[in-house]
Amino acid sequence: MKKLTLVTFIVVSVVSMSFIDGNKTASISSTDGNSYEVPADVQAIIDNSCYGCHNTDSKSTKGKMKLNFDKMSDLKTSKLVGKLSKISKVVKNEKMPKKSFVEKYPDKALSKEQSDKLTSWADDLAAQYGGE
Ligand code: HEC
Repeated sequence: MKKLTLVTFIVVSVVSMSFIDGNKTASISSTDGNSYEVPADVQAIIDNSCYGCHNTDSKSTKGKMKLNFDKMSDLKTSKLVGKLSKISKVVKNEKMPKKSFVEKYPDKALSKEQSDKLTSWADDLAAQYGGE
């Protein structure tokens, strides 16, 4: 009986841990104190299709100058809103991820669902803070 309780306990803990982890929402703060949530599913899309070129260590100098996901919290709200609007725009116009990149790595292409998820996240946040 004791063993069964222990097993149940372990199973419940593992299941709830993976549940919490799967829904983990990261948060970015602007330098002027607003905070923005990045849901795990949005983060996964960014990690898979965008982050490789838009991070501090990226070889794409132009890419990281225009947008660096590692530096989002170094921005003021107004700048962050600008980046979010651009993210939405380039994804809607299918300019990003870059065509040459998608041709080389088809699994990094955005599905319609991923594209919608990413742009509505960016649009919602930009609208929420856009007035500032
Ligand atoms: C293969 C590398 C690569 C990938 C992957 C990539 N980008 Fe880019 N991105 C660039 C480069 C390089 C630029 C600089 C401008 C240009 O060359 O078009 C850029 C520019 C941008 C800009 C700035 C546009 C402007 O007019 O200021 C945004 C926003 C952007 N990318 C968003 C994204 C998003 C969102 C994704 C994922 C869906 C993504 N990028 C994936 C390389 C990449």
